[in-house]
Amino acid sequence: MPASAPAPVAVTGAEGFIGSHLVEALVAAGHRVRAMVQYNSFSSYGWLETLPGEVMDNVEVVLGDVRDPGSVHGLVTGTEAVYHLAALIAIPYSYRAPHSYVETNVTGTLNVLEAVRHLGIPRLVHTSTSETYGTAQTVPISEDHPINTQSPYAASKAGGDRLADSYHASFEVPVVTLRPFNTFGPRQSMRAVIPTVIGQVAAGERTITLGDLRPTRDFSYVKDTVAAFLAVGTAPAADVVGRTFNSGTGEEISVGDLVSLIGKIMDTELEVRADQERIRPAASEVMRLVCDASRLRAATGWAPAHTLEQGLAQTVAFFRDPLNLGRYKAGIYNV
Ligand SMILES: NC(=O)c1ccc[n+]([C@@H]2O[C@H](COP(=O)([O-])OP(=O)(O)OC[C@H]3O[C@@H](n4cnc5c(N)ncnc54)[C@H](O)[C@@H]3O)[C@@H](O)[C@H]2O)c1
Repeated sequence: MPASAPAPVAVTGAEGFIGSHLVEALVAAGHRVRAMVQYNSFSSYGWLETLPGEVMDNVEVVLGDVRDPGSVHGLVTGTEAVYHLAALIAIPYSYRAPHSYVETNVTGTLNVLEAVRHLGIPRLVHTSTSETYGTAQTVPISEDHPINTQSPYAASKAGGDRLADSYHASFEVPVVTLRPFNTFGPRQSMRAVIPTVIGQVAAGERTITLGDLRPTRDFSYVKDTVAAFLAVGTAPAADVVGRTFNSGTGEEISVGDLVSLIGKIMDTELEVRADQERIRPAASEVMRLVCDASRLRAATGWAPAHTLEQGLAQTVAFFRDPLNLGRYKAGIYNV
């Protein structure tokens, strides 16, 4: 690296759904990216393998694991900012494997905070989730809404958030927490509702298997969530560091209405079959999420640029491509 080359930015969870879109956006903004991909013996780079060569020319892939402090230390060394997205994120799987959620989402975040602290990295963006609020007690949900963790996933993410807050208070670690509401788009895992529905229809199904149709969510298109990451990652420190910011559209839709909308966009009559296996324990299901993102808007000027319909059209086009659909298992319940 020439002495004058700007320092790279590090991304954890880079091979995942949001992470791979963030890597693309960072490169488009002129950054070199050091991308942590979770070590696996297949040397798979996940979704990064599908990015164009001219993007990957600016990406250094590092196989590693956020549960390992040395791995994180090496990733972060010499970077100008760290975007920490790595996490286990499926709610149903968190019922089965909660220890792994604590190790990845709590201890993994602790390792990132420690590395950023000791290496003096100027900016860390930590990723939270709207699931930490639980079912809305007041709407729209601002950052002052109580935290009510209804699943081991939500609890592990809230644990990471509390550590981030404490590292800012105790050690002045320059961390900003982004709390995205539900995000969707190309490359999302089929455990999430939108890819599940679109994927089943694209695979030729007309009877869609789902869990509870009543919960409402506030869905952001992935490019808008990525824009929120960049907004908090590049804003002046005085405006964002030490703070938590929601990102979301402020509009809610029930899962049932979402299925109807997808059917309309895909020009298909859909029937829904409830699958008991997909219904969550009653007290664990988050019934309502709708975002108040006014703090983020005021601090950075961020605003969503895509409607739900526009984002769904992009997502449908992605899943209708047989090459993309072939990467998924549309015929099974993806936990
Ligand atoms: N998708 C959403 O709707 C949503 C909403 C709010 C917050 N988030 C948060 O956004 C982040 C990214 O989520 P996503 O939807 O892209 O999910 P994803 O599963 O596609 O991405 C998570 C990534 O973390 C990696 N990872 C898991 N364990 C790891 C480990 N031990 N070491 C290193 N890497 C590891 C995975 O390989 C994966 O690439 C997560 O922190 C998630 O909690 C997602």
